[in-house]
Amino acid sequence: MEAPTPASIERSLGELRAAFPKRFEAAATEQALRDENAKILGKKGELKAILGQMGSISADARKSIGALANDLKRDVEVAFDKRLQALARSSRDAELNAPPFDLTLPGRQLAPLGHAHPISIVRDEIVDVLESIGFAVHDGPELETEETNFTKLGFPPDHPATDMQDSFWTTDGRLLRTHTSNIQIRAMSSIPPPMAFIAPGVVYRRDDDATHSPMFHQVECFLVDRRVTVAHLKGVLGEFAERFFGSGTPVRLRPSYFPFVEPGAEVDVGCPFCKRPDGTRAGCSVCKRTGWMEILGCGMIHPVVFENCGIDPEQWTGFAFGMGVERVAMVRYGIPDIRLLFENDPRFLAQF
Ligand code: DAH
Repeated sequence: MEAPTPASIERSLGELRAAFPKRFEAAATEQALRDENAKILGKKGELKAILGQMGSISADARKSIGALANDLKRDVEVAFDKRLQALARSSRDAELNAPPFDLTLPGRQLAPLGHAHPISIVRDEIVDVLESIGFAVHDGPELETEETNFTKLGFPPDHPATDMQDSFWTTDGRLLRTHTSNIQIRAMSSIPPPMAFIAPGVVYRRDDDATHSPMFHQVECFLVDRRVTVAHLKGVLGEFAERFFGSGTPVRLRPSYFPFVEPGAEVDVGCPFCKRPDGTRAGCSVCKRTGWMEILGCGMIHPVVFENCGIDPEQWTGFAFGMGVERVAMVRYGIPDIRLLFENDPRFLAQF
């Protein structure tokens, strides 16, 4: 290769001067423009390369070529700034002319909504049904006296339920209520009959297996009036089963013992899972082939309970029943293990 001369260097500068405006014009984006600018003026750019050839030329020639190079550099810089502004302007214009962005549009991806826990769903529905039949909601404490939780309900002092094994006692001799039947005592001791109440609430027992949880929910229901009979009790239970489990759901009472009722019974409803079109039950694994599922305990309020609350059992009679909300939820949905209701696994909860 021939050694560079002042003339050849000037020619190279002339070529670059002639070419750069078109190269800038061709850059369509800010990044392309900056890349092009770096190719010309950058540390390893074309201008540096041309000036690198000046080593062998005279000091005078170097001076005049240096001046040419400085002019060129300034012109390139001015053209770069101009083109940069033009690109910014046109991209802003494009944005302004684009269809407007509507900030009020709803998002495209639907956020999953939460919902009430199945225990709350079932409790609220039990309460709704009984309220619609005519019962009013009564409330009471979860920390209760032995007298109100047991004694006045007719539990003898040595009853196993009062045992350390079955209840959570505090050091001052009170306990976490083992059932919502305490509300019977509280209401009947403070309100003159007649009355018709339900009491939904949390109860506690020292129990923990597939069908028992140490903390669970009950709904108590009781009615006191003149000449109340088992027929009224059965009528309300039938109406409840009808409205809660669906029309035609049969109910049966099996004699049983609770200290605060006489007579007492346990109540079964026809299994919702193996119902035949004619209304009979086939028997299935959920109801253990019996066609029936137990949902609650009930009875006619014991005269001694009335006396303990200052109500004359010769004048007033009444019925009571109490159901476990988790139990009813398990019957309704065919849930095999009560613990599923307390684990809060979203894969389980999302099914309700
Ligand atoms: N309190 C009972 C329990 O916890 C349920 C119960 C049975 C409530 C009979 C009643 C009743 O009101 O009459 O198992």
